[in-house]
Amino acid sequence: MDKSYILIRGGQKLSGEIILQGSKNSALPILASCLLCRGISVIEHCPRIHDIFMMTAVMEQIGCKISWQGHALLVDTRQITATVLPMEYTGNFRASVLLMGALLSREGCVSMGKPGGCKIGSRPIDFHLAGFHRLGADVKEKEERYFCQAKQLSGADICLPFPSVGATENILLASVTAKGVTRIFGCAKEPEISDLAKHLVRMGARINGIGTNEMIIEGVGAECLHTVETRIPADRIAAATYLIGAAAVKGDIELLGCGEIERYRSILCVLDQMGAKIWIKDGRIRLKMEQQGKGVRLITGPHPMVPTDIQSMVLSASLLASGKTYIEENIFESRYQVVGELEKMGGCICVEGKRAVVTPVQRLSGCKVNVGDLRGGAALVIAGMMAEGETRVESLSYLRRGYEDIAGDFRRLGAHILEIDNG
Ligand code: UD1
Repeated sequence: MDKSYILIRGGQKLSGEIILQGSKNSALPILASCLLCRGISVIEHCPRIHDIFMMTAVMEQIGCKISWQGHALLVDTRQITATVLPMEYTGNFRASVLLMGALLSREGCVSMGKPGGCKIGSRPIDFHLAGFHRLGADVKEKEERYFCQAKQLSGADICLPFPSVGATENILLASVTAKGVTRIFGCAKEPEISDLAKHLVRMGARINGIGTNEMIIEGVGAECLHTVETRIPADRIAAATYLIGAAAVKGDIELLGCGEIERYRSILCVLDQMGAKIWIKDGRIRLKMEQQGKGVRLITGPHPMVPTDIQSMVLSASLLASGKTYIEENIFESRYQVVGELEKMGGCICVEGKRAVVTPVQRLSGCKVNVGDLRGGAALVIAGMMAEGETRVESLSYLRRGYEDIAGDFRRLGAHILEIDNG
């Protein structure tokens, strides 16, 4: 039972600067990629969050030796002792699925149960498995477990029915050492996929079309791959969290260490629609919001469209806006679960299928709310800062999956917020 909670006394403006944590969604596949060769990899600027702790725990279960030095991870993959991923580790952790492609490439076999994770939709892995099958693996499902086997993977043309981030990464990981050429048509092109692909190239992989929706992978022998030192770029979704938070409560904040700005474009467009002033210089993003935010029209979709991961936070920010907000969620079917909690606080949101309409209200009132998924949790923290009185955000385990210290960061920016750790 998770007894920790965050207490927020709303109504404070935000100001100041913070340094961004490393990207969760870049670090996870890059960690999995360490399995592709035998040696010690160094991953710097790795976020110290629960999703990463869970990933390292599964990798240790199969023989890797992993240690932290500050925010650097040392990953020793010289010995792998198992190819069966234990259910108790993968059962509630979605990104563990990325170990399948890497293990299949390295060991020729892998088995895992159905991966769990945030409950934001059905989240099947059929594209991943179909990709492995196209690469020549024998793929079976038995008693809630998947079994994949291949003596030697062979390059193939793979057409994804939807640009899935995880499937693109998994197929990429599996195909790096496949014999011949693999082409992934309709692949996802989120910046985190480019981070993985560029990292693989530095390891010795041959990949063309990075950053496009057609990647071409020329398989190389496993002996051609070598370990490298990698630095994880800043987390654009964490960045969005602080920027949307500051826009919601009228703030003037600056984020440091943002890296290349291109990856933030769609997020900055949403903030611009809200009426925020934004300055970008030398990897820094400054946001200033002086008036009540405006309502926005937002359609989530695969990159370069607006990321689904910021949708719940925009919902929160628009509750007190000066006009209506219209949202269309096109990635996950159950990503409006936070709506019930926001309504408890006084928000007015009408959801029909994948559409939500927010009719602004005069005020929100703090109360006890419960986190049901990672980004929904961030949305509740933002709503707490907007509300009158005290908000108690409970069930923090989801939040800890993706944020190193969301309460600490907002506190440094001036929010009255405290994390009570009863764990
Ligand atoms: C990744 C991100 C997550 C983000 C999401 C969408 C990581 C660790 N997580 O999740 O933060 O919200 O991308 O940008 O990077 N689908 C299938 N079959 C499959 C795979 C996916 O039907 O085999 C569907 C999903 O149900 C969903 C859509 O495709 O509706 C997109 O999912 P996907 O891009 O795969 O998301 P994840 O990789 O799980």
